[in-house]
Amino acid sequence: MTKKLFIKTYGCQMNVYDSERMAETLEGYEQTQDVAEADMILLNTCHIREKAAEKVYSELGRYKGLKAEKPDLKIGVAGCVAQAEGAEIMRRQPLVDLVVGPQSYHRLPDLLERTHNGAKALDTDYPEEDKFEKLKSRPKARRAPAAFLTVQEGCDKFCAFCVVPYTRGAEISRPVGQILDEAKDLVERGVREITLLGQNVNAYHGKGAGGDWSLAQLIWALNEVDGLERIRFTTSHPNDMTDDLIEAHGTCPKLMPYLHLPVQAGSDKILKRMNRSHTAESYLKVIEQLRQARPDILISGDFIVGFPEETDEDFEATMELIREVRYGTAYSFKYSTRPGTPAAERPQVAEDVKSERLQRLQALLTEQQRAAQDEKVGQTCHVLFERKGRFDGQMVGKTEYLHAVHVDDCDATVGELRTVEIVSSSTNSLSGRLV
Ligand code: SAH
Ligand code: SF4
Ligand code: F3S
Repeated sequence: MTKKLFIKTYGCQMNVYDSERMAETLEGYEQTQDVAEADMILLNTCHIREKAAEKVYSELGRYKGLKAEKPDLKIGVAGCVAQAEGAEIMRRQPLVDLVVGPQSYHRLPDLLERTHNGAKALDTDYPEEDKFEKLKSRPKARRAPAAFLTVQEGCDKFCAFCVVPYTRGAEISRPVGQILDEAKDLVERGVREITLLGQNVNAYHGKGAGGDWSLAQLIWALNEVDGLERIRFTTSHPNDMTDDLIEAHGTCPKLMPYLHLPVQAGSDKILKRMNRSHTAESYLKVIEQLRQARPDILISGDFIVGFPEETDEDFEATMELIREVRYGTAYSFKYSTRPGTPAAERPQVAEDVKSERLQRLQALLTEQQRAAQDEKVGQTCHVLFERKGRFDGQMVGKTEYLHAVHVDDCDATVGELRTVEIVSSSTNSLSGRLV
């Protein structure tokens, strides 16, 4: 009999991708959205900020009743909290049967096997073997039109605030052939848009014909895949925005005019203390080159406010940089002290100061986001339809700029790419009509 698997995913897109792969690798299980009927619960966790990590324990606490009712229920913790805290998780929450890190989840079926008779299983190794090779081949199930595909994993940059180099490990790039095979398989299963993933995706340097390939080379190869309509990639580091990649934004037909390029702060003093190894000016230069290559490119960013020793003046420099760039969308966070990172040892900024700065920064970014959206009214865009809307006959999709669009009385089907005239803009989405 097929058993039921309930997966809850926290954190970044790579965790979404990993959750899919874990579900596929567990033979004999099918996914359920109803935790009450689960035979196995898997939390795929994120360690990036304290709040994210703490959520895991409150969620686990909720499963006490279920486990009491169903002693055979297996509870697993995967992802970056698993990697960072390891066996400590089972000490803090004895309900947990297994803990598996991001580099060893291809071993999940064996680990699960080991938990029979109530034993605990833990694997936070960085194995020699290629997990992508070892993962069970996927059943040929249909997929939604937009999918993620990990091409690079890990980080060697060691920004002073960040846990990722410790939880995901050293940078690795998957070989070109493996990625192209996976992309073609996704297309066969209905995928039209692929977002290439990596913690430092633009540092990609995978083995291909003739030696190591850059991300731009990989994108050009994907551009040749029949049936694939759109290519995106995330997340990039400003220092790895090479000329061939910038140029591809102007010349590669399937590469979308959208780029997530985190800067974190606008003060060179803070950037230096963050160990970002770029300046505000070098970042702005990259943005300028990108806009030369592709004038309508929509820029997205990440910001941290209240990094240790950030003064009012430093913060104003961040606001200034934002005004200069004009972001289409952005993600911003209060600095969160992470154990084991260098910034944790520095003098901290008071919580109320962080909150006040975040509020001001977000107000500016919201304004810019709205302006970038409003600008599209009256223009025609291409929309990839991803799902039915809330109302009868309504469909929802995304433009090349990643704006969500609602279209009423829409005869487009899921997975179809159509030309749409944008007629209005509201807080978080656009409305349009088929042309
Ligand atoms: N290069 C990475 C970044 C991962 S973390 C990637 O591939 O996505 C995503 C964002 O979280 C970072 O860009 C940063 O803005 C934020 N972040 C990371 N560590 C943080 C911390 N300690 N406190 C607050 N925000 C943090
Ligand atoms: Fe973290 Fe910096 Fe690496 Fe991004 S580049 S994952 S922020 S250490
Ligand atoms: Fe979180 Fe790990 Fe992604 S810490 S942001 S899940 S790489």
